[in-house]
Amino acid sequence: MVASVPKAELHCHIEGAASPELVMQQGERYGVDTSAFIDPGKGYIWTDFTSFLEAYDSAAALFRSADDYILLTEDHYLGLAAQNCIYAEVFASPDHAARIGCSYTELIEAIATGIRNARASTGIEGRVIAVGLRHEGPERVEATARLVADHPHPMVTGFGMAGDERMYRQSDFARAFRIAGEAGLGLTVHAGELCGAESVRDALDHLGVSRVGHGVRAIEDAELVRRLAEEGTVLEICPASNIVLDVFSSYANHPFRKLEEAGCRVTLNSDDPPHFHSSLANEYRIAVEEFGYQPQDLMRFTKIAIDAAFVDGDTRTRLLEKLGS
Ligand code: ADE
Ligand code: ZN
Repeated sequence: MVASVPKAELHCHIEGAASPELVMQQGERYGVDTSAFIDPGKGYIWTDFTSFLEAYDSAAALFRSADDYILLTEDHYLGLAAQNCIYAEVFASPDHAARIGCSYTELIEAIATGIRNARASTGIEGRVIAVGLRHEGPERVEATARLVADHPHPMVTGFGMAGDERMYRQSDFARAFRIAGEAGLGLTVHAGELCGAESVRDALDHLGVSRVGHGVRAIEDAELVRRLAEEGTVLEICPASNIVLDVFSSYANHPFRKLEEAGCRVTLNSDDPPHFHSSLANEYRIAVEEFGYQPQDLMRFTKIAIDAAFVDGDTRTRLLEKLGS
């Protein structure tokens, strides 16, 4: 039942979507030993958020050319299409690309080519959200926002921020988000994952976002949950990620259902799927098997994702038609 449900995804990092097999293949190609961060039998090796980001960076460093990013993106989108996903956004990090000498325009053209290739063979639609890394600091994130604003691309429809939420305050990044917003980009930010409700409140107060990445720790503040519901802020919830990264100790303690019942607009997402032994289809399965939804409820989450997608009106209408709404 879950397999046949049309799905959509708003929150997945392209560098974090690389399968261990693909990364090992890249390692062989470039003569790089991957055994420090990949166990061929078990997958990525990390123990906490800091070492997760290190494994993530090590994998990303093996995508070194436009062709590598095309390969990675096409692989990701073909995998999603096989799960009955009709639309997916990916976060792309210009900082990671710069580390391997790939310019922003090369990066985006490569990802766009990967999406177009997968669309041609499966019909899946996609868009890109360029992200700054908050642990690189406000100046770098602002430089990334300017880079994105100065190089418009039809496939890049959003700007966001990922990285270590424990560093800096949301307000430190207000200028970066203003630049991106004035360039007409949709805005989202990671908040309420490693830090609590105040990080989500600060994101609403200072960054002008219509969506929040995770946002789940908003549950710590009932007034904030009411505000999220009233303002229609969309939460990009990543259940498996939250459990594996220990944001919540079990699915029984996960607030997905409470947030929805309080009127929040919730969606299902895979974040960095192979790092968490997950997939978009697995997140939908979790909603049924762990949160107690019926398979027929799942379309509701897909529809919210399409309604909140950073796409033009015609594309949204076409995607909604595919859902029969
Ligand atoms: N980058 C990749 N995955 C992330 C996550 N779950 N939180 C913050 N930054 C990330
Ligand atoms: Zn994320």
